[in-house]
Amino acid sequence: MTSKIEQEIPEVVPTHVAIIMDGNGRWAKSRGLPRLAGHKAGTENLRRIIEASVEFGIKYLTIYAFSTENWGRPEDEVSGLMKLFDDVFNRELAELHKQGARLIHIGRLEGVSQSMKDKIKNGEEITKENKKLILNVAFNYGSRDEILNAVQNIMKKGIEAEDVTQEMIGENLFTSHSPDPDLIIRTSGEKRISNFLLWQSAYSEWYFPEILWPDFGREALLEAIHEFARRERRFGKVEASR
Ligand code: FPP
Repeated sequence: MTSKIEQEIPEVVPTHVAIIMDGNGRWAKSRGLPRLAGHKAGTENLRRIIEASVEFGIKYLTIYAFSTENWGRPEDEVSGLMKLFDDVFNRELAELHKQGARLIHIGRLEGVSQSMKDKIKNGEEITKENKKLILNVAFNYGSRDEILNAVQNIMKKGIEAEDVTQEMIGENLFTSHSPDPDLIIRTSGEKRISNFLLWQSAYSEWYFPEILWPDFGREALLEAIHEFARRERRFGKVEASR
């Protein structure tokens, strides 16, 4: 059982939390439902997590919605997911705006349908002045592809090899508007990075709860933040003793 102190928001809250929302398929399977029902439950949970992030004072939330590799899933699952994303945009954008969240897409728009591109652009435009939470949605995203794209951009500017810096690479990533993530969560007990924020996660704390994504609600996020606060406190002691 969580102690009373664990039910409160800790003093140290990560500025940037990134999440690999894993386990939708297993959640559905354990209930004898089709995989898409798991993805649907996953999108419903996303609303809870966005709300909780605003409540806890998290400033940046990055979610891995669809990777460049996910196109290789069975056709009906891919088309079902696209339909789900479409529905979510139609249904949730107003709520997101009301929460004061700003939507930013990270990933490639090439290969994405025109209607989805329009939805993404529209969502970014409507929410662009919001300051409470930056919601980075990694869609058609792969981190190696992102780093490659950054290197290509730098080379196109004609910069000499010896003048390329780490900062320059960071500035050319899709996440250039966000600080590096402090805490990265992958739900469902899987412990892999899966081509997510490879450059940005150099110093991130990783957290791997066993809970499947549709069940990873407010309390679970709060627990993750407490775990982060404990790790941060240890780090603080090392710093202070230097
Ligand atoms: C991983 O579970 C989940 C995905 C590939 C899709 C994640 C997408 C959502 C939760 C939808 C929310 C996002 C937006 C932007 C609306 P899995 O299918 O790999 O699960 P499994 O490992 O149990 O099979």
